[in-house]
Amino acid sequence: MHEHVKGTTGMKQIYLDNGATTPVRCEVLEEMTPYFAEDFGNASSVHGRGQRAHRAMEDAREKMASLLGASPNEIIFTSGGTESDNLAIKGVAAARGRAGRIITSSVEHRAVLATCAALEKQGYEVIRLPVDRFGLVAPADLHEALSAHRGETVLVTIMMANNEVGTIEPIKELAAVAAEASVPFHTDAVQAIGKVPVNVDELGVDLLSVSAHKFYGPKGVGALYVRAGTRIAPLQHGGHHENGRRAGTENVPGIVGIACAMELACAEVGEEAERLRQLRDRLQQGLLEEIEDSRVNGHPVQRLPHILNITIPNAEGEAMLLRLDAVGVAASSGSACTSGTLEPSHVLAAMGIPPETAHGSLRFSLGRMSTTDDMDYVMEKLPPIVENLRAMSPFSKELRS
Ligand SMILES: Cc1ncc(COP(=O)(O)O)c(C=O)c1O
Repeated sequence: MHEHVKGTTGMKQIYLDNGATTPVRCEVLEEMTPYFAEDFGNASSVHGRGQRAHRAMEDAREKMASLLGASPNEIIFTSGGTESDNLAIKGVAAARGRAGRIITSSVEHRAVLATCAALEKQGYEVIRLPVDRFGLVAPADLHEALSAHRGETVLVTIMMANNEVGTIEPIKELAAVAAEASVPFHTDAVQAIGKVPVNVDELGVDLLSVSAHKFYGPKGVGALYVRAGTRIAPLQHGGHHENGRRAGTENVPGIVGIACAMELACAEVGEEAERLRQLRDRLQQGLLEEIEDSRVNGHPVQRLPHILNITIPNAEGEAMLLRLDAVGVAASSGSACTSGTLEPSHVLAAMGIPPETAHGSLRFSLGRMSTTDDMDYVMEKLPPIVENLRAMSPFSKELRS
């Protein structure tokens, strides 16, 4: 386990934003290093250096495929989760050749929602399924949407686990509904890998997105699983890389890194998930007890083990984050992409949480470095921060009375 990094002031630094990104593991960095300057060859070159790079890339592809329960020719390496989502959605849509309907959920990551919105502008119809108060999509709603528009749906895309609240969607059931209607099913599994078991056949999905930097791999590399027989058009044109499905010289060090990181993450999935769950539950219980009116967002059980999204009424999320940062705690007010804006979270809104309440939400996402001491430190620091902010809030009981 890593030592906590001490800031320049010597203050404890606690990183609880692993849902945004994670540090690269030493083992991963070590495996990647030779492919930057030593075995730096282009994987398409015929000489020895090129062939060594090619071998490393194909070994990585085999590893990723076997971890997902897929075949190597079903793996396309990409530049990350965003590209994998774009390729899945736009690629399947383009392969069909004419506009149709895409069914998604209202709680997807922006990489999916904005991609669907872009296709909407091009004439596709997009149906965004609702979720219940825990963030779950109902298979019956998907069934109804597919039956109402039989034959016209190009793709169903529903995420495996939500990045803001951690709710795990019933992908197996949802994919079965899509299969019954012979519609390809894509899932964004970016937050799920390494936290819950992911096997493409068990889930019954046709396409699945992965991103290395969420499980201690490098940033800027990802993968898209595409089931053999699924029609997909490339978005990027050029050389015949990735079997003609994604042109561009491959990021060999990154590809070696994602496979190594995924192997380590999957090997630890049971044990580490349980450790994180216990730590998360300790933090959850402590905060719920200490902070009046606070409540947890997301499903109580069907939830990623490392995510705690908590709503604290009458305390502003960004203000809490800044004060936590000042005492060395890095957390988030939702997804890394929406924090920093004043827009309330679309995920919390879809779950029926009013905007004024959603503004008082924090996401703690634990990781390999997290310890019991970290949880206790947050439990000690956050309640007085909340008390202080509430005392200043125009909504606080004291000021209203
Ligand atoms: C669910 C989900 N999908 C997609 C992405 C985007 O992945 P990347 O950062 O690799 O582009 C993220 C990252 O925040 C995510 O959480």
